[in-house]
Amino acid sequence: MERKSSRVRYAEYEQSIRARNAARKQPQDHSAVKRQKPRHVRSRSVTELFFCFLKLLRPQTGRVVFALVTLTIATVLLLIPPAATKLVIDNILGNQPLPDGWFISLPSDPLSALFMVGIGVVVIVVARIAIEVWGRWQAMLAAKRLELGIRKQVFQKAIRLPMYRVYELKSGGAASILRADVFAVGELVNSMLYNPWRAIIQVTGSIAILAWVNWMLAAGALLVVPWLYFSISMWVARIRPRMKDIRQRREKIDAMATEAFGGIRVIRSFAREDRETIRFISFSHLMARQQLKAWWMRTGMVLMWETILPLGLVGLLTVGGWQVVSQKLTVGDLTMFLVYSLVLLGPVTVLIRTAATLQDGLSGLDRILDLLEEPKELSNSTNAIRLQTDQVQGHIAIDNISFRYPGAKDFALRDISLTVEAGETIALIGPSGAGKTTLCNLVARFYDPTQGRILLDHDDLRELDVASFRNLLGIVEQDIFLFDGSIRENIEYGAARATDAEIQKAAEMAGADVFIRELPEGFETQVGERGVKLSGGQRQRIAIARAVLKDPKILILDEATSNLDMKSEQMVQEALESVISNRTCFIIAHRLSTIERADRVVVLDHGSIRELGDSDDVLQASGGPNSPVADVLPDQFANTHRNPS
Ligand SMILES: Nc1ncnc2c1ncn2[C@@H]1O[C@H](COP(=O)(O)OP(=O)(O)O)[C@@H](O)[C@H]1O
Ligand SMILES: [Mg+2]
Repeated sequence: MERKSSRVRYAEYEQSIRARNAARKQPQDHSAVKRQKPRHVRSRSVTELFFCFLKLLRPQTGRVVFALVTLTIATVLLLIPPAATKLVIDNILGNQPLPDGWFISLPSDPLSALFMVGIGVVVIVVARIAIEVWGRWQAMLAAKRLELGIRKQVFQKAIRLPMYRVYELKSGGAASILRADVFAVGELVNSMLYNPWRAIIQVTGSIAILAWVNWMLAAGALLVVPWLYFSISMWVARIRPRMKDIRQRREKIDAMATEAFGGIRVIRSFAREDRETIRFISFSHLMARQQLKAWWMRTGMVLMWETILPLGLVGLLTVGGWQVVSQKLTVGDLTMFLVYSLVLLGPVTVLIRTAATLQDGLSGLDRILDLLEEPKELSNSTNAIRLQTDQVQGHIAIDNISFRYPGAKDFALRDISLTVEAGETIALIGPSGAGKTTLCNLVARFYDPTQGRILLDHDDLRELDVASFRNLLGIVEQDIFLFDGSIRENIEYGAARATDAEIQKAAEMAGADVFIRELPEGFETQVGERGVKLSGGQRQRIAIARAVLKDPKILILDEATSNLDMKSEQMVQEALESVISNRTCFIIAHRLSTIERADRVVVLDHGSIRELGDSDDVLQASGGPNSPVADVLPDQFANTHRNPS
């Protein structure tokens, strides 16, 4: 595979951004760009994001309001001490009378007056800090609770996405959204509510005081506001899409790393460590370039304002100084004015500095909203039928179904019709890729058929409540998945209230009890991630026990004994006999011995039914070279020599 350097790929990325911006400027023909985007990705305006955020924050309303109220009080207190500068300069040191409207009386002795002002300032400062910390703590609590709430919502959603979307997202990608994006949304409590609110109070408060001191100077200071608004909103439109891209890239990188470690054995056995490292690093390089560019955009903005603001201050100082000279202003007024200007500028600089964090958080929120808006797996029709397990017969009618995987070109199944009586065992055989697993996927409703329908006791599966339907199923998949934990935890996964005796019984039926007893820690043995500490056959037997313990109405065994040796398989099958006999079963197998136990055999080939009949009939016909099963049963040869008894 050809690998481009990250520089080249970054150049391509910049080009795609230019195309995107151009498309945004000409709304009439951006359909071409838009069409390439998946449906679940859309861009939202800041206002839209803000209201979505408030909606998410609703459970924390009390806390947030409390935090904002304490913040308001603290900020107002913050605005008082600078007035002391005027008091000290004009009235204590300058011996001028107190201006009208200052409702305090100072002692005539300057030292005790200074002392009193000092004490007053200290008291106010301490009170402000105490109030502010308390409010901040509430804001922090709100942020963490919001984060937890969203994490729950996102997890709930991600785990219920349609199968093909989960595969698209990949496990690492989902983890990345859960970790990084959700965290960023929690931070929004600070960057979107707390800090801006403080800035608003601080700016309005100080402007009001400035206007009271000298309205002309205040008007000059106010000139900053529209400027600030325009420059920030221009810049925001450019930087947020980039932040979103960076998050998307991070999701890909996380997915790649997770996949690499999942496939560590393949990487080792093909000695691909270096190539994988290069692949990983080159993706990371691209992200680093994107981040560096974003850093420049952010720094440019900060630099611009850090230049403008002091220049403005110099301007105010010049005009103010001239007014002092022409005796329209006292020295104390001017000093106080400048101190308040600094109070005014403080939050403005903070806002500019955190604007990038805010945009980053918003881009995380944007991605989370995208995910939350996606349709759930096979969302229930509103009046879905809830099944009562004991009233289900287990009769399944597959009514002329065809199926194509989402995004695939070819149909995996074509025109399949099959009626399965309650309690019947169907063996599915056919060459690999014939569609056996796919058919089971449809019966288990991991996917809905593209055409046709599947009925359970005369109800279309689509009309059933998904969870109540899945409760009826016991599935042993071709790729066994065990969770990291003990053998017991894995077996009781589908039946949390099972007793020890039931677990023991299920293990016996799956032929697992023998090897479990031989393990030093028995049922408490830890299996490792995906069950790495067990052999393939052991994993399969645990998976069978897990399915059996659930006492399912419908049992699906997809090559469930393929990793067992002949003798163990025989044992498991004999044990399973009683399990299979009284429930509807679909068994995919290659061994003749399994198929003989089935009531009927379905031979699938290229997604269609090639042969269907009683197992005896199908197998009887299997002697000759034209046999329908000659090419799919490896031990078919043995069949011709089998004992006729
Ligand atoms: N998730 C999937 N997405 C797209 N195509 C798939 C998917 N799973 C299986 N297929 C295709 O469907 C066909 C049937 O596969 P499968 O049912 O797994 O065969 P098997 O009979 O060996 O169990 C194959 O051609 C395979 O490539
Ligand atoms: Mg298969």
